[in-house]
Amino acid sequence: MFENRLFIETYGCQMNFSDSEIVASILSSEGYSLVNDPHQASLILINTCSIREKAEERVWKRLRELKSLKKKNPELKIGIIGCMAERLYEELLFAGHGVDLVAGPDAYRFLPELLSNTLQGAQAANIQLSFEETYEDIEPLRLDPSGVSAFISIMRGCENFCAYCVVPLTRGKERSRHPETILNEARNLFQRGYPEITLLGQNVNSYYFKNAHLSMNFSDLLAKVAEIHPSLRVRFTTSHPKDLSDKLISTIASYPNICKSVHLAVQSGSDAILKRMNRKYTRNEFLDRVRSIRKMIPESTISTDIIAGFCGETEEDHRQTLSLMEEVGFDSAFMFRYSERPGTLAARKYPDDVPSEVKARRLQEIIDLQHWHSLRSNRQDIGKTFEVLVEGSSKRSRAMLSGRNSQNKMVVFEPKKATRGQYVRVRITGCTQATLIGEEMEDDL
Ligand code: 5AD
Ligand code: SF4
Repeated sequence: MFENRLFIETYGCQMNFSDSEIVASILSSEGYSLVNDPHQASLILINTCSIREKAEERVWKRLRELKSLKKKNPELKIGIIGCMAERLYEELLFAGHGVDLVAGPDAYRFLPELLSNTLQGAQAANIQLSFEETYEDIEPLRLDPSGVSAFISIMRGCENFCAYCVVPLTRGKERSRHPETILNEARNLFQRGYPEITLLGQNVNSYYFKNAHLSMNFSDLLAKVAEIHPSLRVRFTTSHPKDLSDKLISTIASYPNICKSVHLAVQSGSDAILKRMNRKYTRNEFLDRVRSIRKMIPESTISTDIIAGFCGETEEDHRQTLSLMEEVGFDSAFMFRYSERPGTLAARKYPDDVPSEVKARRLQEIIDLQHWHSLRSNRQDIGKTFEVLVEGSSKRSRAMLSGRNSQNKMVVFEPKKATRGQYVRVRITGCTQATLIGEEMEDDL
């Protein structure tokens, strides 16, 4: 019915969004055009996430919905790609879910071949992980409609083997892209009018490229990207505390166009839990990194990830997490209850022994404390003026615009002259725990 029309739906992290742009690029070279409505598609790809059980449940539910579409249109092909594809390919293919194709995160180049194998009604799969694949020669097809901010994936995979985490199993060995390909992509984006880019990786600050002619670490790369143009805003995510060197912090401090926000996942405030999680730092070492950031970049925000109820977590361990939060005063945080993932070190070695209601209560205490800290951090900004990159209209009110400041805080304001993609100066007049509210200054940049 509809030939070569691709609908792609993405779950999970920014890496997955970036991967969907690579997939869209590969398939558009094969003659596919993108559609916004699954009813109009001849191929539906779901780019999936396995990080928590809930993320997978959402995809199973979606698959049940899509199966009914297939009944109406038997020509429709459904493909599952990404982390769940890697982890659960057998179940996806063979348990009657209506899945035609499965491709893991390192197999996207083979999608055209896999698709042609499905033409006669067969199923096709490739979940081979690679030591080299970085897709560095593929120019992603930008899917973000705002045209303001673009992701550049600079490395893939992860070898930290945090005990709770499925990523090393689904995304394989760590590998870094050639810096020239990253710089070219960033220059190209800037020339096409993107004022902001985010360098992405499971662990960006362990980026390291080396060949016979050149070696480069993350802080050198970050400086080179920042030097492309002073009005190109540069962000990066996500960093591991063990790899956050003073050199990197000083690079962030030295370039006005490198955003002053560091995302540093702590996961727990208890040394015993950090050790069991295999995080490779202690509470004190984490606090030392925070002190360095505060000293060298006083205006920087610090955000984090926290897991409540990891295996063997006692009330005292939990209090240690709350007390670390008090000590740091994170500006924002992503907070989760521990979810056991099959195949991880924790699943093999430690019982998931914190009762569900205890996990829920601890998580709530963490969330309540964080909301208070976020509100306090936002209140301190009232009266200050920030440079905001306008992303579009605010979700709540079309009359208001929204964008982010260098500290990665969302700012909503009443526009005077500002339009999407511009930098404007906004004076903060109010806030919630999630958003700064302000007014555009007339003396815009
Ligand atoms: N359970 C709960 N949260 C997890 N995260 C990773 N794995 C798990 C898990 N098994 C969280 C961590 C990580 C973020 C991306 O997701 O906090 O930093
Ligand atoms: Fe989810 Fe992690 Fe895979 Fe990203 S890398 S999609 S967060 S499991």
